[in-house]
Amino acid sequence: MTELRGRTLACRKCAHLAASRQTVVFGVGDPRARLMFVGEAPGADEDRQGEPFVGRAGQLLTRVIQAMGFTRETVYIANILKCRPDTPDQASGNRKPTGVEMQTCLPYLLEQIDLIQPRVIVALGGTAVEGLLGKTAGITRVRGTWLAFRDIPLMPTFHPSFLLRPENAGKKRLVWEDMLQVLERLGEPISDKQRNYFLRS
Ligand code: URA
Repeated sequence: MTELRGRTLACRKCAHLAASRQTVVFGVGDPRARLMFVGEAPGADEDRQGEPFVGRAGQLLTRVIQAMGFTRETVYIANILKCRPDTPDQASGNRKPTGVEMQTCLPYLLEQIDLIQPRVIVALGGTAVEGLLGKTAGITRVRGTWLAFRDIPLMPTFHPSFLLRPENAGKKRLVWEDMLQVLERLGEPISDKQRNYFLRS
């Protein structure tokens, strides 16, 4: 993993991204994790800190991970794209990685997955599903249903930044249901508190 990290950090295959990035966001967590989360691409906070999912969406993901009984150190977190997509024509916000960028970066993620050999992968959002599996039905259709990446069970769910939009707050329960399926698949014990999270009045 250290060798792969070194190669990734030196990557300049996407010249435009290498020129605009502050850091390469390799991934974080236990290289022997049983559970791996894959997101889309670093945002501004991640680009600054060199760590995936540390901004607002990341803090929500961290809370989900903790509610599952894990920590950021006991799972592995990475993105389809290791550099922040540049946004030369916009003052703020993020853009979706292009197909070419995803294809260019994917070999690094594949090597990471090969090293980690997770028991379950959670794909966060439609772009992560598309990056790993190619085009599928939209995330609203596929979330909560088991897919497979090679022979690793893959659970697609909503991206945490989608849940942060006020109109989607009610969808947090669906993500939690997906995570309960993940815990079951991992053979983790599920407490009544976990089972009933969203049933409390
Ligand atoms: N969104 C992502 O998809 N990945 C990150 O690392 C941060 C936000």
